[in-house]
Amino acid sequence: MDIKKLYDLSGKVAVVTGGGDGIGRGVCRTLAHAGASVVVSDLDLVKAQETSRLIRQEGGRAIPVVCNVLDSENLGNLVNTAVRGYGTVNILVNNAGLGGGGRENPFKIDRQYVERIYAVNVFAPWELSKLVAPYMEQSGYGSIINITSMSSVNADPNMSIYGSSKAALNHLAANLAHDLGPMGIRINNVAPGATRTKALASVLTPEIEKKMLANTPIRRLGEVDDIAGAVLFFAAPVSEWVSGQTLMVNGGGVQTL
Ligand SMILES: NC(=O)c1ccc[n+]([C@@H]2O[C@H](COP(=O)([O-])OP(=O)(O)OC[C@H]3O[C@@H](n4cnc5c(N)ncnc54)[C@H](O)[C@@H]3O)[C@@H](O)[C@H]2O)c1
Repeated sequence: MDIKKLYDLSGKVAVVTGGGDGIGRGVCRTLAHAGASVVVSDLDLVKAQETSRLIRQEGGRAIPVVCNVLDSENLGNLVNTAVRGYGTVNILVNNAGLGGGGRENPFKIDRQYVERIYAVNVFAPWELSKLVAPYMEQSGYGSIINITSMSSVNADPNMSIYGSSKAALNHLAANLAHDLGPMGIRINNVAPGATRTKALASVLTPEIEKKMLANTPIRRLGEVDDIAGAVLFFAAPVSEWVSGQTLMVNGGGVQTL
């Protein structure tokens, strides 16, 4: 058995949403290190360009694309850019996400807020999966990975919309695995615990961090590379008989706000 081949993504094309920062940037760099050509998309083109620059500096291949996942035209353009640039799409990482942070007082948020969170966290991954599936089928290699959250299984105050949207994404993949499997496409979820990014920094206080660490057997918070490693597992041939699953990457614990 050639262990390197099990994690080799040479010749594969990966599309990542929200690739301009945080977990998305870490995922883009890891997939590029494994040999994939990466289409780095983000709401913010400058951040997507910076991720692409880092990848090229590290010897990889990357194209930056502006893409707001709320916009169907942007999603279509993202897939077309990948196909024009690299010929197909083999790997899709639905990483862009919104909401949570203990800021969802049910009596203060409105329907517009709920629709926006579900549009980013659930509708966009569904739509993008649908758009890339024909290319994955045609190419003979397809793996879709959704970045969900520990909040998809935890129950906490002021997290109802984010938590339920990420739970929906978990179950979307469990069901889509049945539809996509016969097309040769796998779909899985990586559910991060508290991971050091700008999004986490916006809610983390020393008190919250102390409480989180007390509930985390591996006594540190997550780093983007912890999450990227799990994504690589699902993206690569090593997991070719794994679909419809959710992997918690959380230091073995439960970090609540
Ligand atoms: N950091 C954590 O502790 C943590 C824990 C659990 C789950 N997650 C999930 O991980 C994913 C990434 O989170 P992060 O912490 O790296 O966030 P982040 O804020 O550090 O980075 C998110 C990136 O997504 C982009 N983005 C935001 N809205 C977008 C949109 N509508 N279209 C396209 N791009 C958009 C941003 O510009 C940014 O570059 C999210 O789905 C989040 O829910 C994060």
